[in-house]
Amino acid sequence: MNKLLIIGNWKCNPITLQEAKKLFNLVKRGIRNIENVETVICPPFPYLSIVNCQMSNVKLGAQDCFWEEKGAFTGEASPSMLKNLGCQYVILGHSERRRYFNETDEMINKKIKTALIAKLKPIFCIGETQKQRDKGESSNILKSQLEKGILGISKKGMKNVTIAYEPVWAIGTGKPCDINTAQTMGLLIRKIITRIFGYSISKKLPILYGGSLNSKNAASYIFEANFQGLLVGGASLNPQEFSKIVKEVSRD
Ligand code: PGA
Repeated sequence: MNKLLIIGNWKCNPITLQEAKKLFNLVKRGIRNIENVETVICPPFPYLSIVNCQMSNVKLGAQDCFWEEKGAFTGEASPSMLKNLGCQYVILGHSERRRYFNETDEMINKKIKTALIAKLKPIFCIGETQKQRDKGESSNILKSQLEKGILGISKKGMKNVTIAYEPVWAIGTGKPCDINTAQTMGLLIRKIITRIFGYSISKKLPILYGGSLNSKNAASYIFEANFQGLLVGGASLNPQEFSKIVKEVSRD
């Protein structure tokens, strides 16, 4: 089995380069002896080339990318650019991108495909809103986002994809998804992937949980709900708390 994967998504923080460097270095130091967890930090674009991942136990990821390699697309960053800066991962389809920037399943699908061509590993986020949950639509939403997002991806490509279950109502709210519900959704994701790609691909697919994680609840999602990793937002901006999360899940 692969190492557990812990992703820190800094979102649009911090405001200065100095703070970014400090945060990154404190995380590096905080987890320096941990070898059985793959830890990835996803800073905003302007800091990607400045935080130093070389010879480090912390890997670099981006929070988004465009679906074209280059050209007249003002404001965009392509997967190859990110790869050339040392990124190994890219978060795609985050609910904040869907909500504030009107990203559709089709756009996310194009991004996943281009990221794979550039040899970036997509962390593909899916999850239902509170309204959809209240209407009993959670499973259908998950199925639809998943199927549309990976449409046309080969078995070989799928080996480099990670899926993150992030219920929108649990993101940044301090109300994490309860363990049983999260586990059920994780199983549903794996079932859909098995149906489309077969068991040999599905059994190796890392599925992450994200939404109001902290050092107290993190381990349960791994050891009780059987997720292969975590996508951490707010808590990744606190180096002590983030390092503690990594340490909690690294226990054998
Ligand atoms: P949160 O964010 O940990 O602050 O809830 C998670 C995410 O958006 O990935």
